[in-house]
Amino acid sequence: MKVLVTGGAGYIGSHVVRQLAEAGHDIVVFDNLSTGYRWAVTAGELVVGDLADEEAIEYLFSRHKFEAVLHFAANIVVPESVANPLKYYSNNTRNTLNLLKAVERHQVPYMVFSSTAAVYGMPEQTVLTEDLPLAPINPYGASKMMSERMIMDLADTGDLNYVILRYFNVAGANPDGLLGQATPEATHLIKVASECVTGQRHGMSVFGTDYDTRDGTCIRDYIHVEDLAKAHVMALEYMAGGGESQVLNCGYGRGFTVREVIDVVKRESGVDFPVQETGRRACDPAALMADNTRIKQILGWQPDYDDLTTIVRTALAWEKIWQEKKTQNV
Ligand SMILES: NC(=O)c1ccc[n+]([C@@H]2O[C@H](COP(=O)([O-])OP(=O)(O)OC[C@H]3O[C@@H](n4cnc5c(N)ncnc54)[C@H](O)[C@@H]3O)[C@@H](O)[C@H]2O)c1
Repeated sequence: MKVLVTGGAGYIGSHVVRQLAEAGHDIVVFDNLSTGYRWAVTAGELVVGDLADEEAIEYLFSRHKFEAVLHFAANIVVPESVANPLKYYSNNTRNTLNLLKAVERHQVPYMVFSSTAAVYGMPEQTVLTEDLPLAPINPYGASKMMSERMIMDLADTGDLNYVILRYFNVAGANPDGLLGQATPEATHLIKVASECVTGQRHGMSVFGTDYDTRDGTCIRDYIHVEDLAKAHVMALEYMAGGGESQVLNCGYGRGFTVREVIDVVKRESGVDFPVQETGRRACDPAALMADNTRIKQILGWQPDYDDLTTIVRTALAWEKIWQEKKTQNV
């Protein structure tokens, strides 16, 4: 298929581009390189442009007859979204609208959208199914919920089919050391701990140790980026085979506490960095895990990297490579 990948120079998009190329798809990446990198686009054509620019989008769609759009481009830092909500509604919501206008005008039949567990907010359940009511508690989650809704409403009018993938906590890196998370100022636990190992940070904080969990720290569902990338390729194949629109959680259905993750990072790296235990952050649920029954049933998706040690090893290996790349100014 001829596919457009917005945000394909970013962390997750770049892993998906690699797998799409391996599956034989013809790829165009559209990315403004705000948090992505040229080197991360390992296949297809990279068009540098911004989804705020409707003329650039129209030009792109007039040059290529896309059969599918995979939409990753977004801002993703939750605390920043609280401090600067309009940045998130502009880049995540309005720019998704810009993209959808082109999808409609050019009658693109398939769309895969990067959504997030943040759309669920602070649910009472710890294992989340896709049909829970959406109640995001920050502008980032709200901006993604609105994007989901626009995609669904557009699909209701015509021939667009979509798969909305709600990612849980994405981590790890390509095992060959080709790609990994290079997102500046990332707030993700495994990334932050890996930066402590390589000395880019002097230590890290644990937010809250009095949760009702096995060791008092929050539990999250960490999914390896290669397993997540595979879900995108399978979602495309599913729609091309006549599958109906779907919303699917992406996670392993089990979680680890913050302390467990940090312990694995320290054990695997052999580096004992300072960890400061501080108070809870506002609005952090004690435990969040994906019910992944639906993605397994509908796409036949099965993970290959469902192992915290593997996730951490690939993240650590990448962090070292990335630090070298940075010193060489790549
Ligand atoms: N990383 C996670 O744990 C996680 C969890 C849930 C959902 N997601 C979603 O996955 C997607 C990708 O996240 P990521 O971790 O790869 O982030 P990332 O920052 O590495 O990638 C985002 C990419 O989009 C590009 N971009 C941003 N705004 C753009 C614009 N206006 N026009 C063109 N390009 C633009 C950036 O340059 C970057 O390459 C996002 O939509 C995010 O909401 C990520």
